[in-house]
Amino acid sequence: MSDTVPTLAPHGELVIRTIAMPADTNSNGDIFGGWLLGQMDIGGAIYARNLARSRVTTVAIDAMSFINPVYVGDIVSCHASLVKVGRTSMRIDVEAWAQRTRGGEVVRVTEGVFTYVAIDDAGRPHAVHRT
Ligand SMILES: CC(C)(COP(=O)(O)OP(=O)(O)OC[C@H]1O[C@@H](n2cnc3c(N)ncnc32)[C@H](O)[C@@H]1OP(=O)(O)O)[C@@H](O)C(=O)NCCC(=O)NCCS
Repeated sequence: MSDTVPTLAPHGELVIRTIAMPADTNSNGDIFGGWLLGQMDIGGAIYARNLARSRVTTVAIDAMSFINPVYVGDIVSCHASLVKVGRTSMRIDVEAWAQRTRGGEVVRVTEGVFTYVAIDDAGRPHAVHRT
């Protein structure tokens, strides 16, 4: 048997790094899922904007999993990777990881697949790959 234990590590490009603040807590005192979802959406949009080189808008969020809680003071990072490019849409997998204040342990907290559409100044879809 191998004595090498594979270490689970963030997958994708680092798109957001921030600290979870007391203002972002829910009634349990842990970080509110909606705040985390918002950070992931922003992170995915940064990735999509860079890919499409234009404005983008979120059209769908699928397969969202909340795996571990986030606590006040955790360093939260979001990592994005491309799943698929359509004509005007981009499916992007976004993982969020939290680094605990005490001990520095890094745990995966959420994962979801976000779909963005490249849009022009009038909000109309346009091709991701334009010449
Ligand atoms: C996104 C938006 C511009 C798309 O406009 P539309 O007229 O539906 O455009 P289309 O039907 O041509 O779809 C555009 C692309 O989005 C994809 N799409 C549309 N609805 C989708 C959905 N629910 N899930 C996944 N992809 C979807 C289409 O498949 C198409 O992809 P493709 O070009 O790669 O094949 C429009 O729906 C919109 O403005 N939505 C509101 C977005 C928003 O406000 N987001 C923030 C929420 S707070």
